[in-house]
Amino acid sequence: AGAPLQDRLGRPLRDLRISVTDRCNFRCSYCMPKAVFGPGYRFLPQQDLLSFEEISRLARVFVDLGVEKIRLTGGEPLMRRELPTLVEQLAALRTPSGQPIDLTLTTNGALLARQARALRNAGLQRITVSLDALDDALFRRLNDVDFPVADVLDGIAAAQAVGLGPIKVNMVVQRGVNDHEAERLAEHFRGSGIVLRFIEFMDVGSTNGWRMDQVLPSHALLARLQTRWPLQALDAARPGETAERWAYADGAGEVGFISSVTQAFCHDCNRARLSTDGRIYHCLFASQGLDIRSALRDGRSPDAALAQQIAGAWAQRADRYSELRAGGQAPTETRVEMHFIGG
Ligand code: GTP
Ligand code: 5AD
Ligand code: SF4
Ligand code: SF4
Repeated sequence: AGAPLQDRLGRPLRDLRISVTDRCNFRCSYCMPKAVFGPGYRFLPQQDLLSFEEISRLARVFVDLGVEKIRLTGGEPLMRRELPTLVEQLAALRTPSGQPIDLTLTTNGALLARQARALRNAGLQRITVSLDALDDALFRRLNDVDFPVADVLDGIAAAQAVGLGPIKVNMVVQRGVNDHEAERLAEHFRGSGIVLRFIEFMDVGSTNGWRMDQVLPSHALLARLQTRWPLQALDAARPGETAERWAYADGAGEVGFISSVTQAFCHDCNRARLSTDGRIYHCLFASQGLDIRSALRDGRSPDAALAQQIAGAWAQRADRYSELRAGGQAPTETRVEMHFIGG
């Protein structure tokens, strides 16, 4: 190996987020609003999706370039057929120093109760479940397909029962929509061993009609929680982490705040994203991806050629969208839609 791979801002490549399907069984208004993703919407045809073999091959190349953590996303990853087969292939990967990778998955939990055991058996270590409300009526409205919250809670329980862990729950907080559910979720997960994380609502994609006044800044939410449960700041578990961690002073575990709007964390962002159709994105807000599928399928690109393409592009990377937005200089180009790259 030569000099360690860094982008133009000195950031290493450590984390790969792989979207395995552009489909989802929910229609959250901020991600796949029904008006856009209705019955007539054309999802990617099967031949455009990377196969498991193609994903695993790329993942191996990424791991050789320094990736230590792989997260499967979607759309909704559990909608991809035979997903445990892919998990098995990825769980077998080893870093150049022989370590297993941190392999995890972000799901809406709807199909989790059914699949938790198979995923665990295939080698998945942990899991993150998105959950924006506990109130059943509100939850049904937010997912916009009338899906009951009890089934997601069953999914979380199943994941716990089969030993997937530590489990995280992500709540996207929208002011005036579900922010009043934050304390309720905190109360529910306190003492359960599950880490609840509050995400500031972001302006991803171009269909969600984002406005700054829909963001509840983390510091305000933290202050609100503190009035009920004293919290103490914890150190980051590793560099480039998205969440700021806080522990309940009474020992009931921890919560996290992902403050991508009010406290951008681009300065040590080490994440690359692989879309369902085989493009590499260097930022959640990127307007363009690098087509790696062509090289995968051209029959004359050895792994070294793929590695060269990926490393060359990473070396050119200068993305820092959230920092620019905070400075009032967010680029205005069309952005990639979230359901292609999974957040
Ligand atoms: P852990 O390893 O479990 O801490 O995972 P993670 O926080 O890296 O991944 P997760 O999918 O749980 O991310 C939570 C949320 O943080 C995502 O849904 C996004 O909303 C946001 N997020 C993750 N990565 C980025 C990023 O690089 N930039 C921005 N702006 N937001 C991100
Ligand atoms: N802002 C913040 N988080 C979002 N997610 C989806 N859209 C947004 C947004 N606009 C989250 C989901 C899930 C993860 C994949 O991304 O709720 O936790
Ligand atoms: Fe589906 Fe997640 Fe998007 Fe909601 S946020 S529509 S659950 S991919
Ligand atoms: Fe990374 Fe882009 Fe998010 Fe900044 S905005 S943390 S560069 S993905």
